Amino acid sequence: MSTKSELLKLLTENRGEFISGQAIAAQLDVSRNSIWKAVARLKEDGYLIESRTNAGYRLVSKDNILTVDEVMHNVTRNCSLEIFDTVTSTNDLLKEKMAAPGPHEEPLVCIANRQTGGRGRLGRKFESPAGTGLYISFGLKPTFDIDKALFVTMASAVATCRAIEKICPIKAEIKWVNDIFVNEKKVCGILTEGVTNFENGKIDSLVIGIGINCFPGSFPPEIADKAGTLAQDPSEFRRSMLAAEVINEVLALIDVIETREFFKEYRKRCFILGRPIRIHPNYNDIGIPAAALDIADDGGLIVEYTDGIDKGKRETLHTGEISISIGH
Ligand code: BTN
Repeated sequence: MSTKSELLKLLTENRGEFISGQAIAAQLDVSRNSIWKAVARLKEDGYLIESRTNAGYRLVSKDNILTVDEVMHNVTRNCSLEIFDTVTSTNDLLKEKMAAPGPHEEPLVCIANRQTGGRGRLGRKFESPAGTGLYISFGLKPTFDIDKALFVTMASAVATCRAIEKICPIKAEIKWVNDIFVNEKKVCGILTEGVTNFENGKIDSLVIGIGINCFPGSFPPEIADKAGTLAQDPSEFRRSMLAAEVINEVLALIDVIETREFFKEYRKRCFILGRPIRIHPNYNDIGIPAAALDIADDGGLIVEYTDGIDKGKRETLHTGEISISIGH
């Protein structure tokens, strides 16, 4: 671990308390000059560190910023992480990286503080304001059959729910297939995309993009009543901690995806099962009333139409041009 990371750990553990330069030097076994340089680097990263003569250093307060050091300090899986302040879309960035020649053996992870062109399913925009969300993408070279993209989205949804519940005292539920809800409001969306190999023109890697609304931000009026957040105030949890847990949980479940271990939990968390829904194929605004019955073994949603010419008919829906609203 670098001196900067070790110092950050020490200051975080003693948040608000002064620690003398001498005590830090002895604990980290480095010179006072190294500490001074590490403090300067942490300040460059945005940490507010107060230094006082005869008292030492203390972490006064800091914005809820995302840093590679703080995230990787809590990551237990093997991966390569980059964090950016502003990008168009973390999925676009990783799609470019994965399409470029290279072995890409270790998962690539990319996080942004803000996206100017965040994308959701069905060509929708994903609002990604600065400082209040977590926008994270994974670039993977899966060893499983690439047509399991739906499973990847489902496993990622379960993993993200687990991560959220580790960090916040809330219950995270899934709306088939890729949305996470808390208290009946959408707090997270997942977008899985295939990447074409630059050399052979085939899809051989995947990008999983996860967008989480952490704290209240500036949502446009059309989604303000549907979108929720994990917490009300940025002091309630560190986005870096959430990022680390999302990385740990997603990579752990992707590793065992073929065991379908996540399926049972997905069904349990999928709150639309047994409830009336409306199916909106081809962007049809009115939608067709139906009941959501179960999740099929291939990940499709089994529904029964409850009105119209197809009343009583059962069908298994797969991802694509279908969106679902809750209630009749
Ligand atoms: C949806 O709600 O339909 C899916 C939203 C996925 C948003 C995430 S944020 C990180 C990654 N980058 C993007 O442009 N989209 C995904």
